[in-house]
Amino acid sequence: MFTFANPLVINLKNYTEISGDNSLKIAEEARNVLLSNHKDIIIAPPPSSIMALSKTKVPIISQHVDDAPLGATTGFTIPEIVKSHGAIGSIINHSEHKIEHSQISNLVKRLRELDMISIVCADDLEELKALSQFSPDYLAIEPPELIGKGIAVSKANPSIITNSVQMVKSISPTVKILCGAGIVDKIDVQKALELGAEGVLISSGVVKSASWHNKILELSSVLN
Ligand code: G3P
Repeated sequence: MFTFANPLVINLKNYTEISGDNSLKIAEEARNVLLSNHKDIIIAPPPSSIMALSKTKVPIISQHVDDAPLGATTGFTIPEIVKSHGAIGSIINHSEHKIEHSQISNLVKRLRELDMISIVCADDLEELKALSQFSPDYLAIEPPELIGKGIAVSKANPSIITNSVQMVKSISPTVKILCGAGIVDKIDVQKALELGAEGVLISSGVVKSASWHNKILELSSVLN
């Protein structure tokens, strides 16, 4: 099982900027940064590029997995197949791809059996509390109203991070807390870590930046 102290998880989503060969270019930039500073940088590309990007040797996770069986199933993204393509884990229940709690529970277990990491997302403290019972490797608090807005959760709503850490650690002490939404610079990452987050999820702040290399270098520089 891979472990990451303070991961910077870069979710490429389905932005035009990463279409075609560009997803490979961003992963190569991440690899160059990672080789220079040895920080915990993870990329979450669309399922179709997992195999190509995993060849860069940057840790790759899926943006989503379905709780569909291996075998005669069509159009689903399933843990066993993404693992075979080089993914080392998956985001589950992202705000832009919500699933049933019963499926989250199954997928956390299934990923663990495959030695893959699970990053389960929650929109608010109520959902976070409910999802703590599944003890994923990471729980990520991401207020949907701040996603893609460029105003960091660590600045706009610092108490949601401190409250998340306090609540999750009291229910399931081994689960690591990540946060995301609106993060754009290293001050935002630093603040998130000071508030108790153990890593961050970011998308538009990297994907839409002028220089992928410089932005990934900047953001990862403040990770432990
Ligand atoms: O998965 C991370 C994401 O939802 C945050 O998006 O664009 O606000 O960094 P963004």
